[in-house]
Amino acid sequence: MNTNTFILGIESSCDDTSAAVVKEGGILLSNIVAGQAVHEAYGGVVPELASRAHQQNIVPVVHEALKRAGIKKEELSAVAFTRGPGLMGSLLVGVSFAKGFARALNIPMIDVNHLKAHVLAHFIREEGEAAKEQPSFPFLCLLVSGGNSQIIWVKGYDDMDVVGQTIDDAAGEAIDKCSKIMGLGYPGGPIIDRLARQGNPEAFTFSKPQVPELDYSFSGLKTSFLYSLRNWIKEDPDFIEHHKADLAASLEATIVNILMNKLRKAAKQYNIQELAIAGGVSANTGLRNAFREHANKYGWNIFIPKFSFTTDNAAMVAITGYFKYQNKDFCSMELPAYSRVGLRVES
Ligand code: KG4
Repeated sequence: MNTNTFILGIESSCDDTSAAVVKEGGILLSNIVAGQAVHEAYGGVVPELASRAHQQNIVPVVHEALKRAGIKKEELSAVAFTRGPGLMGSLLVGVSFAKGFARALNIPMIDVNHLKAHVLAHFIREEGEAAKEQPSFPFLCLLVSGGNSQIIWVKGYDDMDVVGQTIDDAAGEAIDKCSKIMGLGYPGGPIIDRLARQGNPEAFTFSKPQVPELDYSFSGLKTSFLYSLRNWIKEDPDFIEHHKADLAASLEATIVNILMNKLRKAAKQYNIQELAIAGGVSANTGLRNAFREHANKYGWNIFIPKFSFTTDNAAMVAITGYFKYQNKDFCSMELPAYSRVGLRVES
């Protein structure tokens, strides 16, 4: 392979517009992320507003990613883009841009599955960074984000099986909804995380799901949180204000407990000690601590992503594209975006 490989990654599946450049060796040269504050007022992502913001952001974000990488667009080897799953309108902006850009430059396009990209974020190497240990195959990855909660059996860069997943809401979705119920801001994850550090995780108990095998469920927890709060507010109208930190800590502890119970079960079932976490919720302090405690207790070799690679970013898309580029795994111009993922991690 020639030493001048440069892969541009583009991510636009939800409410972050991002572009990144990875060079030979999987080394990240730039990773630009433009968030969208417009959704804060609504307590959640408004799909139409997200698409419009992506349209405004995509050109300057790509321009900046190339500039920071110190390369010209003509030097790119391929354009990798998130094809799905995600919000259709948002995806279309990134997909259409990638198609136009690749055609204009006459270079191949590489479609990337957003969930696989979250997992492969563990293989990003930053320029100047000392070589660090990366997960070796096979390993189990707990992927927890705003849209997904899955346990993935990772056999290779492009060989992954979903062995457990939520049957309803994702963990991040539950945290965001409970944060909204409490009248806190959006996204709720970082707010709950901050508050939880000052609260008692055993102050309140919420119902835990009874789901078979390695699957998850978080919709019951949301309802339990809402109904419990309603009852407590009847007694004390300022209940939330008086118990904010304890509520956050108890909610976080419940979610972490649910996530770790199934991950522990999966590790046992697959007889594996190589484990990773990924996705936006993997930024959570309580989850990171619980993961480290499990590692100590069970002798797991664990991998926790850098904060900037937990939430949506194009670096993970570019690295996935880089691995596919080595196999000349390109896609056609006709390939459409897809919004939902089924049981498998499709590519
Ligand atoms: O991976 P991501 O950026 O988007 C999806 O692909 O869904 O994940 C976003 C989710 C949101 O639900 C957000 O509240 C949650 O990740 N999140 C956190 C934290 N930071 C982000 N949840 C808990 N603790 C955090 N520190």
